[in-house]
Amino acid sequence: MRIQINPERRLAQASPLLYGHFLEHFHRQVYGGVYDPQSPLANEHGFRSDVIEALQNIRTPIIRWPGGCFVSSYNWKKGVGENRTPVFDKSWRVEEPNTFGTDEFVQLCRDIGCEPYICTNAGTGTAEEMSDWVEYCNLPTEGEFAKWRIRNGHEKPHNVKYWSVGNENYGYWEIGAKGSEEWARLVTESAKMMQHVDPTTSLTAAALVDMDWNTRLLESCGDRLEWISLHGYWDFHHGKNETAPYTQCMAYTHDLDAPIRKVQGLLNAMGLEKKIKIAFDEWNLRAWFHPGVHTIQQAVTKEEYLDPRNGNDDNAIYTMADAVFSGCFLNMVLRHADIVGMANFAPVINTRGAIFTYPGGIVKRTTYHVFDMYVHLMGDEVIDQWVQDVPAYRVCGEQGEVDVDCIDVVSTRRSHDGAVAIALVNKHISDSQQITLTLDSPRKLTLHTLCGTSPDDYNDVGKETVVPFINNNGVEQEGLTVRLTLQPHSVNILVAE
Ligand code: AHR
Repeated sequence: MRIQINPERRLAQASPLLYGHFLEHFHRQVYGGVYDPQSPLANEHGFRSDVIEALQNIRTPIIRWPGGCFVSSYNWKKGVGENRTPVFDKSWRVEEPNTFGTDEFVQLCRDIGCEPYICTNAGTGTAEEMSDWVEYCNLPTEGEFAKWRIRNGHEKPHNVKYWSVGNENYGYWEIGAKGSEEWARLVTESAKMMQHVDPTTSLTAAALVDMDWNTRLLESCGDRLEWISLHGYWDFHHGKNETAPYTQCMAYTHDLDAPIRKVQGLLNAMGLEKKIKIAFDEWNLRAWFHPGVHTIQQAVTKEEYLDPRNGNDDNAIYTMADAVFSGCFLNMVLRHADIVGMANFAPVINTRGAIFTYPGGIVKRTTYHVFDMYVHLMGDEVIDQWVQDVPAYRVCGEQGEVDVDCIDVVSTRRSHDGAVAIALVNKHISDSQQITLTLDSPRKLTLHTLCGTSPDDYNDVGKETVVPFINNNGVEQEGLTVRLTLQPHSVNILVAE
């Protein structure tokens, strides 16, 4: 395989929001995850300081909250003020104590140093309730909700810039699911009221790869939106926590950018491609494990629908397959950085997330290290690359055999120091791959590699051996010609300074 780069030809500016995250009131993401006031590891706001530090280290740019399905029956007003009202969460069928609400979420983002992104309730919620939420967060003093925030001890507005109208309200599983016509109307009226409160809000709305849904939404409300939201999960468990093996996970990388290309095509056709970007604001190789909900027939006993959620905590699930897939996904959104402006790993804490918490500390799962490599090493400018003779890799997916590119590559340039950073993912389960790279000029090379000792390697409590390392044994350089050897099942970033 041959690669040639042209750092002088810049294709797009990659937003730092491509490395965003998602936090939902589900299982141990909030309570027992990031928010644990009783923990000896908690800071003055009740957040796990080890979690905060880990999120700061991967330069978390934005966190989307509170859902996800949870939000479609969430009453935000019960989660602020002196007296928090415990409610029954009808999405996930558990009691929501409401001790972590809007003010705690904004404080969390301040402690991390990231942007808050609030997804509103377009399930049971109304345009008025959504805009009341914007009043509470963003008006200085006017009206009852800003005054309520001040009484709650927050004199200054929270200034939440990013807002979504709804979450997956297209899906039968979502509380308050709607048809495309009803949806377009609700988003239009909600966006109108929200922007009458704060015209600076950057709005998105729940969408999917569906012409009818998106056309009606964009015709009715495209002039008020800056984003259109997409979600993606690939390994569904079909009721059992039996996750796909490595090669099947590689099959999911086939045509990975199809949703983006289709939505971009519609935005182009409607002349909106310069105004609206895609927010891929939930993505993860692994769908979350929650049997007996999201279904027509809900499970009856807690043994059937609640206890099994602990299966998400099995760290052995999150192997190099998760790291390699995530590297391919990040490469994909970088290659499409002209139209994708945000992406949120779903979720970031526990469940299928990058960080696992336990009373004594955290485990940085393999995907955490992918984010660590990308945010520290990759550039903000996506540059032109010429790639030839990409080896095909035949793998067996859910629908049978499929050929995928064995190597996934994207090239970037760092505007702050002019270095080139090329992300190269070798998907092959067992074979190293040789790459010949032609540089634009003589450069100092450092190859960073994450590969583990096997495709099924993972990190766990007391065993954190899957970490990136400097792998210059895999680099031979002769003038402008470089020969790279990429380890099997590996995520690699070549930095050329
Ligand atoms: O499985 C988690 C759910 O996946 C999120 O709550 C929702 O947004 C998506 O359907």
